[in-house]
Amino acid sequence: MKNEEIRQLVEQLTLEEKASLCSGKDMFSTQDIPRLQIPSCTLSDGPHGVRKQEGEQDFMGQNVSVTATCFPAACATGSSFDPELLKEMGQSLGQNCQKEHVQVLLGPGINIKRSPLCGRNFEYFSEDPYVSGVLGAAYIKGVQSEGVGTCLKHFLANSQENRRRTQSSEMDERTLREIYISAFEYALKESKPWSVMASYNKIHGIYATENKTYLKTLLRDEWNYEGAVISDWAAVHDRVEVVKGGCALTMPGDKGQDHLIIEAVENGELSLKDLDSCCEQMIGLAMKGKKGSREVLPYDYEKAHELARKVSEESMVLLKNEEHVLPIDSQQKKIAMIGKFAEIPRYQGRGSSQINAYRVPSILDVVKDEKDVCYTEGFDFGEETDKEKLLQAVMLAQKSDVAVIFAGLPPVMESEGYDRWTMKLPLCQNELIEAVSNVQKNTIVVLQNGSPVEMPWADKVNGIVEAYLGGEAVCEAIWNVLTGKVNPSGHLAETFPKKLSDNPSYLFWPGEGDRVEYNEGIYVGYRYYATKEMDVQFPFGHGLSYTTFEYTDLSVDRDTFSAGDTIQADVTVKNTGNRAGKALVQLYVGVLLNTMTVKRPVRELKGFKKVFLNPGESRTISFTLDKRAFAYWDKEAHNWRVAEGTYEIQAGWSAEEVCLGKQIEAEDEFIPTGIVYTIMTPICDVKKNPVGKEFLTRIMPMAEGIIKRMGKNKGSEPMPYEELRPLNMGLLSEPLQTLKRMLPNITEDEWKSVLAEMNSIERIE
Ligand code: BGC
Repeated sequence: MKNEEIRQLVEQLTLEEKASLCSGKDMFSTQDIPRLQIPSCTLSDGPHGVRKQEGEQDFMGQNVSVTATCFPAACATGSSFDPELLKEMGQSLGQNCQKEHVQVLLGPGINIKRSPLCGRNFEYFSEDPYVSGVLGAAYIKGVQSEGVGTCLKHFLANSQENRRRTQSSEMDERTLREIYISAFEYALKESKPWSVMASYNKIHGIYATENKTYLKTLLRDEWNYEGAVISDWAAVHDRVEVVKGGCALTMPGDKGQDHLIIEAVENGELSLKDLDSCCEQMIGLAMKGKKGSREVLPYDYEKAHELARKVSEESMVLLKNEEHVLPIDSQQKKIAMIGKFAEIPRYQGRGSSQINAYRVPSILDVVKDEKDVCYTEGFDFGEETDKEKLLQAVMLAQKSDVAVIFAGLPPVMESEGYDRWTMKLPLCQNELIEAVSNVQKNTIVVLQNGSPVEMPWADKVNGIVEAYLGGEAVCEAIWNVLTGKVNPSGHLAETFPKKLSDNPSYLFWPGEGDRVEYNEGIYVGYRYYATKEMDVQFPFGHGLSYTTFEYTDLSVDRDTFSAGDTIQADVTVKNTGNRAGKALVQLYVGVLLNTMTVKRPVRELKGFKKVFLNPGESRTISFTLDKRAFAYWDKEAHNWRVAEGTYEIQAGWSAEEVCLGKQIEAEDEFIPTGIVYTIMTPICDVKKNPVGKEFLTRIMPMAEGIIKRMGKNKGSEPMPYEELRPLNMGLLSEPLQTLKRMLPNITEDEWKSVLAEMNSIERIE
């Protein structure tokens, strides 16, 4: 429906009808206006399945919902690094929605994993905004291609569960833009979700649902977003402020309070313009839902189950594989299966995303026809070791050829609504892994968890497989990976630190009272660990295969860059092993710190591509890099800016291990900031201004000549560690005044005029 037609419908609404559109009809549907043929929309969680409740409805996943396909949660699909796969999964989710007459699926969730402790990390893709944005966009495209809407959530800076409904996320503008906003920016611009969900928390003291800065200035004015903004469930505290802020829909239904909106319009507190804009959003959403709804062929649960298995297989990460302990030849080997998760798999997280899965075979179901597989429970879901169970496990492992331990986080340890309190696995599991690995060198640990765990036993076992919360077919996928039917190709979309205290947010988590300060700034995940050169358990981007790959011939089509250019980077990847497999080509842009006037992480991911290669096959992959691959958020310019410096385009195995690099020189981009230059402005800052730069090019050689003469031999003294010397050392960090003193030949008028000219081009209209 065209905007004009929507506006005409709004004109025909009474004030009461307008107010009624701004809150849900009930727990999961929007208000209809039958007299104008404005339909209701059914919304449903999301993100990895359809949680439609036909009986009693709730938003914490307490009551039963219809049978649906439970796909792997985002913690797993993030590791697939495969947008095509996410799109395919999205299509299947869309079909499941059509079957259930759901018009909007509440997902994807693309919040950034700031700490391994966030209780809801399992619903999010990554610690990296680019990965989150790309995968989120693909999911959205898939669902929406089926005529079903999505709801991109939780906007914004909602990276913890603790005090989620009262806390305020506090951080500087650069951190917000580079880390917490940019995933949303990418997904939203790329895939146009029908709706966006405003989160529970506050940002800089103002509730996300009332926050004009982000809901209006950013979403509408800057990004031209045209979809609907809806509240998270029970995230609205002031119905009028929310409408003013630009959040059209209060969920769940809040009919008893609609009168507040009517009164606010009548007494002039709320403008009709704001209310009408919310109604336009709601009618737009309802009409899209109506247009997209279609009768579909019977939904095929078995086919979708197969897809869920494929998604899980593509997402599983082989973390460690010493002495070729994997894959296991199940015909030849006696296999000990140990651990309660083998009986009761963990395949999804708790809370509003909890799906009533169609069919969840356990690993014991999967291997029931294998002749040489024996099982023992090993541990309970609690903390304490059961000595008898441990002993049984050790005995079984001893008389087998290989022991596969199914470990992980018991459901109660990670959930929506609260954060984890430790990064450790329960003690009984750590003790069991330790004891089994003492008697069986071919020990493999398969993990089922939604977020990193500490692995004190990592050096003692030969194999580790991260299965995450892999959906209803996870156990079939695990078996296929363990036995080599599937060659693993998942890579970590988050870092596994050695211990919790290594995480950059550790000192500030989970904030004091309601104030949560994101003091680690942009140094989230690998941006911190790689820059600090820290030893981690498994780095971001890490993932092994049963074959081997080689990267060669990294080339770039230019060696200088200025804003507005694009660069093509090519790299060749070859399968050098004897099995077909998929490689993940990771492209980072690194910054050689000594040339920068602004602090940057040592590298950031700017491109990735998963490629299938037969043994011996090679392919050249091309990436296009634009301004955003090099830019940082300049707090003064309130804009993205490319800073002069030497950058390196890197290809590699992970954020901690790059194997190829090509350097590029970038030119400084000038963006007016309104800054006022004076004689006390440091020379390195003056260089940012084109007039200042030109002036300095003229006068600096004179000043340098004087310094050389003054210090006689000093200028020619060898400089240790020259390559590490910051460019602004010495003279460059002095104010202009120093140059003025050194160069008396430059007249007062000349100084005045150059400062005036510099200031005139800094003016912001
Ligand atoms: C969650 C949302 C969810 C909503 C509806 C809230 O508790 O934060 O992600 O979509 O409930 O169930």
